[in-house]
Amino acid sequence: MLIVEIEKILRQAGEIILNADYSEIDANEKDGHANFVTNYDRKVQSFLKNELLKLEKDASFIGEEGEMGNINMQGLTFIVDPIDGTTNFIKNLKHSAISVGVLKDGEPYIGCVYNPYLNEMFGAQKGLGSFVSGKKIHVSNKPLNEGLVIFGTSPYYGEYKDLTFKSAYEYYNKALDIRRSGSAALDLCYVAAGRYELFFEYCLSPWDYAAASIIITEAGGVIRRIDNKELRFDEPCGIIAHNGLCE
Ligand code: IPD
Ligand code: CA
Ligand code: CA
Repeated sequence: MLIVEIEKILRQAGEIILNADYSEIDANEKDGHANFVTNYDRKVQSFLKNELLKLEKDASFIGEEGEMGNINMQGLTFIVDPIDGTTNFIKNLKHSAISVGVLKDGEPYIGCVYNPYLNEMFGAQKGLGSFVSGKKIHVSNKPLNEGLVIFGTSPYYGEYKDLTFKSAYEYYNKALDIRRSGSAALDLCYVAAGRYELFFEYCLSPWDYAAASIIITEAGGVIRRIDNKELRFDEPCGIIAHNGLCE
């Protein structure tokens, strides 16, 4: 399987998002505050599942919208977020992405994150570096006091509210400024591309960071769990990612 084959599928999936008919969006709340799923999240996920499994029929498939396969420890696993930034999508903010991570024998192997609105394709394969739309990317070389910090609010987990804003306040004092975008996958890719220096969020799911984790490491950055345990792809966790100069 080639990364370009995955990218082609992501571009096609991007068309579904770009052509969304806003008069027929059907948004339902899932578990947790402001945690929505729309008919388009389901449509994109089912398209991706169909097409990705044509590339690798024996691969395991894990998707945010109710497809909880197991990680294949001897073979490939797709970990998919059909729309990262669903609230942005519902609000027509045009800042959402499709995220496909591939694990090989349980380890990050390929990552692709596509923002259809800007036609920006972030991609990485183990040992081959990270790219945005074909151009090699690298994390920035700026220290925290010259850097931007982007963070997620873990909106579906109210218990992290105080910690999140305490950390945001601390980083606001140490960095140039702070940001909040609504798409963790894009935030991580922007760190990989040197647009931001550091990202943190106290609770994410594996589909939010599976693809971006290899995009960060292949771009020379650092990604780790906030609790310092080994990064894994079968449970939610807090994530911090940066350019290697910000901790
Ligand atoms: C969410 C976004 C958001 C982050 C949340 C994620 P979703 O993903 O990435 O930026 O703060 O923690 O769950 O639900 O839009 O796919
Ligand atoms: Ca997500
Ligand atoms: Ca999603």
